[in-house]
Amino acid sequence: MTTIDRDFIAGLTLTEKASLVIGHDFWFTAQVSHVRPMMMTDGPSGLRKQSAGADALGINDSVKAVAFPTSALTACSFDESLLHQLGEQLGIAARAEDLGVLLGPGVNIKRSPLAGRNFEYFSEDPLVAGKLATAYVNGVQSQGVGVSVKHFAANNRENERFTSSSNIDERTLREIYLSQFERIVKEAHPATIMCSYNKLNGVQVSNNQRLLTDILRNEWGFDGLVMSDWGAVVDHVAAIKAGLDLEMPGKGQASIDEIVTAVKEGRLQESRLDIAVERVLKMVEKWQPATDQVQDYDKEAQHRFARQVADESIVLLKNDQQELPLHPNQETVAMIGELAAQPRYQGGGSSHVNAVRVVTPLDAKPTNVTYVQGYSLADDDSDAALFDQAIAAATASDRVIIFAGYPEEMESEGFDKTAMCLPENQNQLIMAVANVNPHVTVVLQNGSAVEMPWVNDVQAVVETYLAGEAVGEATWDILTGKVNPSGKLAETFPIKVSDNPTALSFNQDQTNENYHEGLFVGYRYYDKKHLPVLFPFGHGLSYTDFTYDHLEIKAGPDTVTVSFNVTNTGHVAGKETAQLYIGNQTSPVEMPLKELRDFAKVALEPGQAQTVTMVLPRRSFAWYNSTTGTWEADNGEYLVMVGSSSRDIRLQKSFNLTIGTDQLAKITGETYVHEIWQTGNQRIEEALQQSGLDQKLAALLGHGSDAIFANIPLRSLGMAGITNDQIQRFIRLVND
Ligand code: BGC
Repeated sequence: MTTIDRDFIAGLTLTEKASLVIGHDFWFTAQVSHVRPMMMTDGPSGLRKQSAGADALGINDSVKAVAFPTSALTACSFDESLLHQLGEQLGIAARAEDLGVLLGPGVNIKRSPLAGRNFEYFSEDPLVAGKLATAYVNGVQSQGVGVSVKHFAANNRENERFTSSSNIDERTLREIYLSQFERIVKEAHPATIMCSYNKLNGVQVSNNQRLLTDILRNEWGFDGLVMSDWGAVVDHVAAIKAGLDLEMPGKGQASIDEIVTAVKEGRLQESRLDIAVERVLKMVEKWQPATDQVQDYDKEAQHRFARQVADESIVLLKNDQQELPLHPNQETVAMIGELAAQPRYQGGGSSHVNAVRVVTPLDAKPTNVTYVQGYSLADDDSDAALFDQAIAAATASDRVIIFAGYPEEMESEGFDKTAMCLPENQNQLIMAVANVNPHVTVVLQNGSAVEMPWVNDVQAVVETYLAGEAVGEATWDILTGKVNPSGKLAETFPIKVSDNPTALSFNQDQTNENYHEGLFVGYRYYDKKHLPVLFPFGHGLSYTDFTYDHLEIKAGPDTVTVSFNVTNTGHVAGKETAQLYIGNQTSPVEMPLKELRDFAKVALEPGQAQTVTMVLPRRSFAWYNSTTGTWEADNGEYLVMVGSSSRDIRLQKSFNLTIGTDQLAKITGETYVHEIWQTGNQRIEEALQQSGLDQKLAALLGHGSDAIFANIPLRSLGMAGITNDQIQRFIRLVND
């Protein structure tokens, strides 16, 4: 039975109330009356529970916890049920450690491949981020542990993250940067949302009423708590008024005094403070762990699960002439690269975990694979002795596996990268080894996309991102074919960083980050520009092959159902992520060529086929109209594309949407001839006939001048000899 009610809050002193809306310390909420302090901890890929030496940047150690793969990799699983299980495991660990709220997942969009925190985020696409994070949140919360979904919103760079303003037009904000949060709020009801450090269109997010109250609560119906990112609050009184409930970690007594004084001086209504207090108390009441919690959990089982998650997510980017899988018992294999012995398996900053048992690729290697260091992670220049040793090993072996990636200093929370290149000594080594051995596989460990100047010289490339503490076992599972790879990229790898749509704006201005590219983020941009890319969004190979057929589209009263068959035509069992993209051919606004609207991962034995069915709601066809503040789905033609990646579309068909609205609701003098000519719309056809305008237009449009006359608004048809009376008659008839 709840003990938190209005009477209880009314009985608290002003000082007690003020102490509740800040952290008691770095990780705890305040203790007031019988309400015990509740602990929260990072997140998102393992627990970072600190007992002493608290910090928000992963500097001080925390209790041992399993380091699961980071979201950059788990996103490549495209597997909601796997993300749910991951959430459950994190919830189990958090509960055993007496935690109330886990600070994650991070769901910001990967706008630039240079953003320092991309490893912690899921995708360049809001549907992927939204669906996978929804599953993760449901998983954690099913264990009685709350989450804090972060960083709300538009925190897409690390440099000057506390002060820079993300300047974004409203439609782009809604469609690209908020829609994943919207889905999570509506479908997973997270305990809390963490507001981000930055400004949005000039207003600090921590006191942004439009974001924290109007959109989050009033539009989406969020009923949890809003906390600040650590140190994000600039003006606590303004923040409370805007809808922030809990400042973390707060400034102790100074914060309490500030709030008390503001209430006493009438600058903050006590009733407004009470709302924040009530939300803090309700959060604590709901998510506070019981005092008799079981303190142990099976960390070895979690390590095995971390391996499984990586197995299901690692992406085989390239595999010419079936270079992989390896057969180390039948061939000599050289393994080169310090990252095999000192792997990057997690990111730096607040998500840094004190891992339970790291198994490196060197630890997990099959017995007859030899290892040489090849390069030094501490230095970008080649070391002649290490280099020569690597060339000798590569020359003497049938096959070579080179481990390459970004060293830790290059990539972390807190700063952005300046280039998308591997250190020079790694690139040089790969090219030199490829010169002496025709069977080279590169295994990558990195938090985000990387340029590959050597990609045409090697036979295979395996992207393992930051694969968690079972990195070694999972990498060899894929290399040896123990596991058939099934990961797909959740971000595009451009050929070079300057191809990215943010190349002209990212980190160019210390105060303003201008999102000039609008909706055209990731594949939405590369596709529209018809730019070649290194590896497209959604790409990932398998040791088997899949074919697609039988595309069917059925429009129902509220939804559109798309179905098709996927068949495993190869010789081994495998999993395929089928992707459904929609191309809007109808709406009179800027549109990407295609946008991902659903995906499904299917497991198929050799020869097995499965029908995949996807049901699309009206929203899948909608764009955000910032003039009316509504999501509009326009009736008309749409292209349905089904494929194995965004650039490998196997089936496509267009169809007419009928569950949206008729765009031509009102015809005026501003309507263009092409909007009323041969539309197939009965109302328009009848009015054209009755007004006699049809014959006049037919005469004009029939002489090879279609484009000129189609591009004239009705009010200007006088210039083509049509009388104003006739035009007005048509407008009256069509609108009545
Ligand atoms: C990060 C958050 C994190 C918090 C607490 C901040 O620096 O941006 O993601 O949850 O610290 O460690």
